[in-house]
Amino acid sequence: METFEISADQFPTVQYRKSGSGPALMLLHGFPEDGSLWNQVVPALSGSFRVIVPDMPGAGGSALPAGNPSLDVIAPSLEVILNKEQINEVVLVGHSMGGYVSLAFAEKYRPWLKGLSMVHSTAFADSEEKKQARVKSVELIRKGGKEPFVKGMIPNLFATAFREAHPEVIQRQVERGLKLSEESMAYFYNAMINRPERTNILRDAGFPVQWIVGKEDQLIATESALQQSSLASVNFVSLYENCGHMSMLEQPERLANDLRDFAVYCYNR
Ligand code: MLT
Repeated sequence: METFEISADQFPTVQYRKSGSGPALMLLHGFPEDGSLWNQVVPALSGSFRVIVPDMPGAGGSALPAGNPSLDVIAPSLEVILNKEQINEVVLVGHSMGGYVSLAFAEKYRPWLKGLSMVHSTAFADSEEKKQARVKSVELIRKGGKEPFVKGMIPNLFATAFREAHPEVIQRQVERGLKLSEESMAYFYNAMINRPERTNILRDAGFPVQWIVGKEDQLIATESALQQSSLASVNFVSLYENCGHMSMLEQPERLANDLRDFAVYCYNR
């Protein structure tokens, strides 16, 4: 993959990787990650698609934008990349927080979207309980507790059997998480607290929506994802057994196949 760096008024640095050729597929990572999260699925996709993998502003090589934390502020960074690449249609794949950003993008830039894949993600807003838990986490991070925070959260993102069989993957993910600055962590958590429910985007979607659901996902309850998976007029739903929140690491081949089938459908319907 080649790496590119651009800037626009509100974004001092936006870094993204690119590989392959064909219709555009953009993969958006979640929290606390960067674009390298997708490394295991990109090779299988770049045979058929131009795969674009940004680091979200505030993660990896991309700098945080100014202003109040908001995913609506982050979403236009995707437009900056699409413009630079002269892309006018894209299938967006959003993992968790990346899915929340995709919905914010869809709200503002609807004509660009050929399809949306929600990978362990949701269109619902945070519950009050979740907001309060995030506020506590931000307090901990600001008090210098970034390391216990990351070490505490990462193992829970994986299905039990996978976590026990692959401690090295958990360790790598902890290291990836610890690369985020405290400022970025606080920004992302506050931006997630501030995001609205966006089920209306699904109801009005003229594009197909895919749902990748892990049966052991502790962050996105299966019932909640399935409840949303009939809102759009065309839905692809894949329920992964023995999988938590991280199918791109837990079951990368299956995920790559499902994403490819979905994107082929979106571009040929
Ligand atoms: C993620 O995986 O992107 C986040 O942990 C999602 C969240 O906290 O809602």
